[in-house]
Amino acid sequence: MSPRVVRTAAELRALEGTIALVPTMGALHDGHVQLMKHARPLADTLVASIFVNPTQFAAGEDLDSYPRTWEADLERCEEAGVDVVFAPEVATMYPAGLDDQVMVDPGPLGAILEGEQRPTHFRGVLTVVAKLFGLVRPDVAVFGEKDYQQLALIRLMVDALCLDVEVVGCPTVREADGLAMSSRNRYLAPDERQRAVALSQALDAGVAAGSHGPEAARAAALARLADFGVVPDYVAVTSPDLGDPTPGEARILIAARVGKPRLLDNRALTLGRAPEGS
Ligand code: PAJ
Repeated sequence: MSPRVVRTAAELRALEGTIALVPTMGALHDGHVQLMKHARPLADTLVASIFVNPTQFAAGEDLDSYPRTWEADLERCEEAGVDVVFAPEVATMYPAGLDDQVMVDPGPLGAILEGEQRPTHFRGVLTVVAKLFGLVRPDVAVFGEKDYQQLALIRLMVDALCLDVEVVGCPTVREADGLAMSSRNRYLAPDERQRAVALSQALDAGVAAGSHGPEAARAAALARLADFGVVPDYVAVTSPDLGDPTPGEARILIAARVGKPRLLDNRALTLGRAPEGS
């Protein structure tokens, strides 16, 4: 059955039973579909939101050229068993206009890694997610590990603001060659698409070197990127909650431009102790 499209808070308020929410900006791919399929059994009603959120794009970023594929998105939602697609107007999400709003301050975790490159990004993300939680009032909300820092910040916000929503993370869905699926991959030229595999290969190299410590993992990832001529914005090895790495469970994260598109990827890894004297 095709999903019901709703655009207002009043229509959302009329929904009955438990609710699972999958927030998206549309241009849906198999990564989004996996989140929806994961969310499907978690509640009576599955809501997917499609809203290209202006406040998470800075001036000069790709808000205007962000892909919009409405008809295909509805088909993807239907295939994933979505009951309701919430596709609000900008004025529904930002009734007082885009400036002059109460916004969510992400704190220090919002200022590192992606936040260093895009200082206003997570403020926009957390603000729109908080508004979506207020409008949809989900019991559970599902996000991808692909945007690992985003997921960590949403968990932090839910705790800090005492929001009664269970946050569930889902593993990254990849193309056959390892490239993490992303709405922005469609903007890779054919030669760039081939080089884009550098990110997942660099993560693999970092994971393999993890037993020698965080610096070795980082160096291995950087070397693999260099093989492809890809210069990253950052390669970071952190604890699972994005703090300083310690032996045991950790995370490796990469951001890099391949041509124009800026790509993100990350993986879990296990760190050993760095060798003496390194
Ligand atoms: P968007 O980039 O559309 O992503 C929507 C959700 O899909 C996010 O939780 C993201 O992590 C997840 N996702 C994207 N690619 C994935 C992949 N290859 N595998 C698994 N999950 C993947 O992230 C946003 O939108 C926005 O910032 C949003 C949270 C909707 C707020 O505007």
